[in-house]
Amino acid sequence: MSKNLIEVEGLKKYFNVGGGNVLKAVNDISFSIAEGETLGLVGESGCGKSTAGRTILRLYEPTAGSVKFNGTDISKLPPKKMKAMRRDMQMIFQDPYASLNPRFTVTDIIGEALDIHNMAGTRAERKKRVEELLDMVGLNPDHATRYPHEFSGGQRQRIGIARALAVNPKFIICDEPISALDVSIQAQVVNLLKDLQDRLGLTYLFIAHDLSMVKHISDRVAVMYLGRIVELAESEELYANPMHPYTKTLLSAIPIPDPEVEANKKRILLEDDANGPIQSAKDGASSGGAFDLENSELVEVSKGHWVSMPKK
Ligand SMILES: Nc1ncnc2c1ncn2[C@@H]1O[C@H](COP(=O)(O)OP(=O)(O)O)[C@@H](O)[C@H]1O
Ligand SMILES: [Mg+2]
Repeated sequence: MSKNLIEVEGLKKYFNVGGGNVLKAVNDISFSIAEGETLGLVGESGCGKSTAGRTILRLYEPTAGSVKFNGTDISKLPPKKMKAMRRDMQMIFQDPYASLNPRFTVTDIIGEALDIHNMAGTRAERKKRVEELLDMVGLNPDHATRYPHEFSGGQRQRIGIARALAVNPKFIICDEPISALDVSIQAQVVNLLKDLQDRLGLTYLFIAHDLSMVKHISDRVAVMYLGRIVELAESEELYANPMHPYTKTLLSAIPIPDPEVEANKKRILLEDDANGPIQSAKDGASSGGAFDLENSELVEVSKGHWVSMPKK
């Protein structure tokens, strides 16, 4: 693998949720992403994936920790330098409709991204660039004057992708880009993202709530649970040899069409009673074991395969 483009070290994002309570949405995560690599970040809804993504891009100020982009610690950059850095780091969102201004034409939506970074040039150049981007994401350049509601969900997500690509980023956080789409078009969007990665040399953090969605695009996968990473490994290794009980739970939730396989699947959650590990970890009542994350650390069990284990 080539050098690391992204290095996240001890990143935390806490939210004050009133009454003196603090929600540790991201609680000390560390990982790196090599240039041209896709790291999948998976975990159930509410585990802190989007907060992690936003904190990495410094859309949220981190509570602690650092993020290095190409060797530069962006967590300490002053606003002006941060703005310049943002060009290299873009985000694609889950809901392509909510993230596209309904009163803007496609030209305005994509052009706005260019304007922010003074990359639009003349009117003619701006138009040409928008058309080029639409073509790149598989949309008809003649539709540049249309509004978001005139497109299907998959097409809208392509507009979101074109907008992210407009400023020639190196790194894109794809935050559940296919979760809101029909199953029939999910693969098309994943394939588009893969093609674009190959053509443009992009690096991705690909967020999803289920492992089946990241399988085909990720080189490595990090599994997140309650604000922490509980397992990280190369995709093949993670699917073949999941070690953390939570990863096994996530894997068992993937629908497998073969009825025989389905019948044999272990449903880890159901094996335990109501006081099982996940339950008690959420209640904060657990002590010891794989879900006592407070007293656990990531251990490299085989080359590049990290698993959260109780501290010795
Ligand atoms: N701006 C915020 N203020 C307070 N709590 C937040 C904020 N954003 C997210 N959270 C909380 O942080 C936790 C993680 O949320 P999120 O990162 O959106 O999870 P995910 O993307 O994995 O579904 C959730 O409990 C959520 O309610
Ligand atoms: Mg999210």
